Amino acid sequence: MTLTPRFPRFLHGGDYNPDQWLKDPEILEEDIRLMKEAKVNCVSLGIFAWAQLEPEEGVYDFAWMDRVIGRLWEAGIRVDLATPSGARPAWLAQKYPEVLRVDEYFRRHHFGGRHNHCPSSPVFREKVRAIDTALAQRYAGHPAVILWHISNEFSGDCRCPLCQEKWRQFLRDRYGSLEALNDHWWTGFWSMRYTDWAQVESPSPIGQDANPAMWVDWRRFSTKQCGDFILMEKEALRSVDPSVPVTVNMMQRFWDYDYFDLAETVDVVSWDSYPLWGTDDLRAASEHAMTHDLMRSLKDRPFLLMESTPSLVNWHQVNKIKRPGMHLLSSMLPLAHGAQSVMYFQWRKGRGGAEMFHGAVVGHDGTDRTRTFRGVCEVGEALQKLAPLYDRPEREAKVCILFDYPNWWALDYAQMGRKGAMHYDETVNAYYRAFWEQGYAVDFRDSRRFDPESGYGIVVAPMLFMLRDGIEEKLRAFVRRGGTLVMTYCGGVISEDGLAFTGQVPHALTDVLGIRTEELDALCDGEANRMTWDGNTYALTELCELIHADTAEVLSAYEDDYTAGTPCLTRHAYGEGTAYYLAAQAEETFLHAFFRRLAEEKAIPRALDADLPKGVVAQKRGNAVFVQNYGGAAQEIALPGRFTDLLTGAAFDGKASVPARGVLVLTGNDD
Ligand code: GAL
Repeated sequence: MTLTPRFPRFLHGGDYNPDQWLKDPEILEEDIRLMKEAKVNCVSLGIFAWAQLEPEEGVYDFAWMDRVIGRLWEAGIRVDLATPSGARPAWLAQKYPEVLRVDEYFRRHHFGGRHNHCPSSPVFREKVRAIDTALAQRYAGHPAVILWHISNEFSGDCRCPLCQEKWRQFLRDRYGSLEALNDHWWTGFWSMRYTDWAQVESPSPIGQDANPAMWVDWRRFSTKQCGDFILMEKEALRSVDPSVPVTVNMMQRFWDYDYFDLAETVDVVSWDSYPLWGTDDLRAASEHAMTHDLMRSLKDRPFLLMESTPSLVNWHQVNKIKRPGMHLLSSMLPLAHGAQSVMYFQWRKGRGGAEMFHGAVVGHDGTDRTRTFRGVCEVGEALQKLAPLYDRPEREAKVCILFDYPNWWALDYAQMGRKGAMHYDETVNAYYRAFWEQGYAVDFRDSRRFDPESGYGIVVAPMLFMLRDGIEEKLRAFVRRGGTLVMTYCGGVISEDGLAFTGQVPHALTDVLGIRTEELDALCDGEANRMTWDGNTYALTELCELIHADTAEVLSAYEDDYTAGTPCLTRHAYGEGTAYYLAAQAEETFLHAFFRRLAEEKAIPRALDADLPKGVVAQKRGNAVFVQNYGGAAQEIALPGRFTDLLTGAAFDGKASVPARGVLVLTGNDD
């Protein structure tokens, strides 16, 4: 299951932009010397190099790239070769203004920036196809080239007349007729009824802005537009040589596109991870661990960490440098979750441009005498020591969290509860964090990819507002066969096309859960209700649902306000399994205790059978346990047996000390 068959190793390197240094030819030689010192074995090349590769329309200049790839190959460094479609050259925008994007106010953008193109424009597609084909013809057979990096961090959408036409076609394909569209979009509201396809425009703050179902469809359409563009580029590369896999670098959970769908267009999932270290590091780690597990889950395969910073970024509100130890620790985090690489943005700091002060492996001083450079060397060495784990990327998750993009969009567009603050993503992260901090492995599935027979013991469906792809039947089957299901407030309210279900909700699951929901109450920031469970009282905030326990057992009730005494947490036996309903947003200490109880009932193993101090987290990859200390002080931990640290060779028997911001990669001496 290697991601890069031409070079089946952990990749270490990052974005390399020698095209910005062509007037300093000696820089290339110095870079290669330094890369070897840092044990860099792969660079991502040419990501924004279109203007250098095609300085005039149809005139290609590959001489510099030939030289760079040739020298890298001689030095044993592989190349993740980019298509340059993330930013277009000025001549292209000047000659063909149609390639530029039109925004939600129907304004055509000017030349500049990146990701500023129209995915429908035939001219843009033709020019991208031409340069991609030329790149593939020249380099796909080069032994240094191990991966295609299509474009860069796709984002946004375009609303030009060409895209409007595609939007209407998308809706025709989805709904079949204008009549059906009117029905699904409930256009009787505010006299929105369409009588001619030409009346249908993209949603816009200065036009049709008030139809949640339309907005969700727009997000589906944006995902499709992006996916079509990726497939076009992939096809251009593949038609020359199908043997090199392709990837696109994704961004965190990225709300704009459905990453489950986009992942289907590529061979390898990769993403760019930029936590803000130096504040609440445990929280930052949990957020990024969640995305690592999401990325692994998208294809149920290992993934690549395509970008991270070796020191700081330049776009957080406050840009902190990494504290001692944090570079190695933060680089081991993705590995623990199935990554096959540690890559950076970027290799060498540019002298100008918006990112001239963004962290890079080599700074403006140009030397190896920096803390950042030494930290990168340390990671290079660690990856060599961990080489045996390359073939052991597996994570055996018995817990699955449903994370569903259309559901996320629907909640955010719904105009209910807490405006702009429904916090689906944060809520999913809180649930994930409760498992992650306690050493349980978690898979993510969306409604379409969830399979009730995958062997999970626990499935958590937070805020599953929209029921799509028959998920209600799948959840029912899961519980019937003995699974433990946890559903929460906002569950089962609207259908896949965005219409509210009539009748009792959670739709088609009231008999499984033994409850029905009646009203959703929203709390202001600072307000709280309470519930007591297992002897402890917990705060309930943000969203509290009024529910009725028809056949379910009430485990806990609200304690305040007029809802006092009504159910808040319920349990119901169904078939061989159990279905819980949590009617309110509960504080994290509850989630930790509650999920721990459920996991113990299902005998789900932790990465390490030991209770770790706060801030120390263990996660398992293959046969190795990554013990990570996100605190600022060393911690003593108890170990269930004898272990060896793959990073240092140290042996431990029954206990170990994990340094401040430190990491141990333990294998049991019996493994
Ligand atoms: C990424 C992007 C890189 C660079 C980096 C800076 O999102 O792909 O090109 O801009 O951020 O952190």
